Amino acid sequence: ISGKAAAAPLLAWYDKHARVLPWRARKGERADPYAVWLSEIMLQQTTVATVGPYFTGFLKRWPNVEALAAAPQEEVMKAWAGLGYYSRARNLHACAKEVSSEYGGKFPDTVEGLESLPGIGPYTAAAIAAIAFGRAATVVDGNVERVVARLFEIETPLPAAKPDIREKARTLTPEQRAGDFAQAMMDLGATICTPRSPACNRCPINDLCDARAAGTQNLLPARAPK
Ligand code: ADE
Repeated sequence: ISGKAAAAPLLAWYDKHARVLPWRARKGERADPYAVWLSEIMLQQTTVATVGPYFTGFLKRWPNVEALAAAPQEEVMKAWAGLGYYSRARNLHACAKEVSSEYGGKFPDTVEGLESLPGIGPYTAAAIAAIAFGRAATVVDGNVERVVARLFEIETPLPAAKPDIREKARTLTPEQRAGDFAQAMMDLGATICTPRSPACNRCPINDLCDARAAGTQNLLPARAPK
């Protein structure tokens, strides 16, 4: 498939079918960078369903980054209990303190600035830059990898295919609405382009999908044997 042909139909589909998730802005509104950051850190190793109540609880108790920065570390760790991977909670608190003290409580609005903060790696920086700041950053998680591997019928097994997948994902990313595009790709992967028995008949970009044309969607992405 060529260039950005997928963006328009995918965004139109997202306007109708986006999952309603507590960290998402209402249609046409800009998401709060603090909420996007908090959700993306929680979602790194934890499912959407588990994160929901934790996210809502944190936001209620610490409604902005300065409130979180002012909390005792021990309280943050206690509130995190159950989510696992506790280094995330330590970095979360360190990051809140740094954004408060070094950036006046405003998250940096570039991928580079975001990546300089504790606990924010390339994936999370791209997600925040796109979703909260409208930057045309490309966000590739496991769901997106699967969608892209199928769209382009990339037969190289994971993880070797990652650089190629990332480059193909970059060519799909639109300049406008990059945050919605990123979340549309995630939602497509979670609800339609699923690992087993993808619902290609309901896919908004099925006519662009090389794997579907070849009938290989159930075989992709391939995974190298461990
Ligand atoms: N997984 C990670 N980030 C997400 C988001 N913004 N929406 C849905 N699933 C996600």
